[in-house]
Amino acid sequence: MARISVIGTGYLGVTHAACMASLGHDVVALDVDKDKVTSLAAGIVPFHEPGLPKLLKEALAAKKIHFTSDWTDVAAEADVHFLCVGTPQLPESSAADLSQIKSAISSLAPLLTKSCLIVGKSTVPVGTAKWISEYLIANSPAGKGVHLVWNPEFLREGFAVEDTLYPDRIVLGIQNKEDISGLTDIYASALDASTPLVVTDYATAELVKVAANAFLATKISFINAFAYLADEVGADVGTLADAIGHDTRIGRRFLNAGIGFGGGCLPKDIRALQARASELGLSEHFEFLKNVDEVNKSRRNYVVELARKTLETLDDKTITILGAAFKPDSDDLRDSPALGIALALSKAGANIQLHDPVALPQVRARNLPVTAIENVEEVFDGADLVLHLTEWKLYREIDPKTIGEKVANKRIIDGRNVLDRDLWSNAGWQITYLGKPGSQAAL
Ligand code: UGA
Repeated sequence: MARISVIGTGYLGVTHAACMASLGHDVVALDVDKDKVTSLAAGIVPFHEPGLPKLLKEALAAKKIHFTSDWTDVAAEADVHFLCVGTPQLPESSAADLSQIKSAISSLAPLLTKSCLIVGKSTVPVGTAKWISEYLIANSPAGKGVHLVWNPEFLREGFAVEDTLYPDRIVLGIQNKEDISGLTDIYASALDASTPLVVTDYATAELVKVAANAFLATKISFINAFAYLADEVGADVGTLADAIGHDTRIGRRFLNAGIGFGGGCLPKDIRALQARASELGLSEHFEFLKNVDEVNKSRRNYVVELARKTLETLDDKTITILGAAFKPDSDDLRDSPALGIALALSKAGANIQLHDPVALPQVRARNLPVTAIENVEEVFDGADLVLHLTEWKLYREIDPKTIGEKVANKRIIDGRNVLDRDLWSNAGWQITYLGKPGSQAAL
């Protein structure tokens, strides 16, 4: 079994660390945030991810993992170091902020006295791995004994454990035909299960990650552009997606029209890719991603205007919002379309009653102008309009008859196009979808 360090305990780092420990490796996980280290050491995962708290507790009990803020622990206890720090969008630009990467490698390099493997998993602009490798070789006592492999991560929030243990593919970017057996041994269980392995150069490995996210984002904005058309001409975007999705060259997944994509990855990754393409003098070829971003952001305004049209005015209206997280099975509010719509409606004068099965602590921590309501039974009271914005299973199980007695008006906009039309209509509701006929006139 390998001696592993995981640097950075965000979404990616905690999941990777716990999963590697569950495979039997000895893991030390570092974060510069000491409070985070303390709570992780107590088995508390600071975000909602199905299956992860159990895995972490088991690994702690088996003494297969421990958490630290001390870089000397990392250097002393591991031969393979996974770089999992965040690369968020810079506040004043669309480019990625690489300060956490720079800080991590400058702390680690002077402590690398013997040959080791550094494995980059963070999402970075193409060209980053090359300078990280050069920096590590130049600044580590072990010099050329420090080998960098670029190994992008493709996990989805809500399925993070499954995606880490059973990935669709493993991509390894190398530079000089380095010996990667240390890493393939760590991933032996996935590779033994015939997970495709792609060994390539640094630049290609870095690009695989951003290309995958750019493609997924493009699929969503593509179908959302057709949702606008569908609303205009009375077509059904869901049936359209089903029909084109039967073509295996296209595929049905990521063609669900609605309020668009959010989260900590797709939005910032398509922006960082445009910024990098522009640095390389290729911006004109990546203009389409600007459109992808614009179509996506416009979906939020579209729903706000739809609500205004439904209610005539938003001023002092009571609007119930189902869902705050950017997608179900997550409590992540980063760039959440649902939360964006809630705040825009509040700004326009509406009183927002917001429910989410897991994200309300995060909502409260942000001190937002919405009333966060814990009990889903109570969120409908007196509502002039209900918006279904994050497709938690719980909301599909609501009985429209029962809640129909609590609202002021039985009107609902389904921003995710998943609620059962017959069920809601038969209970006397006016249900409006995005891009489906008979539900609304085009704005
Ligand atoms: C995304 C990618 O799917 C992962 O492969 C990748 O590893 C990850 O980013 C990352 O870069 O770390 P994630 O951000 O967890 O994963 O979320 P997705 O499942 O991709 O969903 C993104 C957004 O698209 C959500 O807001 C979701 O509601 C929306 N979406 C998804 C749609 O609007 N329509 C769809 O058909 C699918």
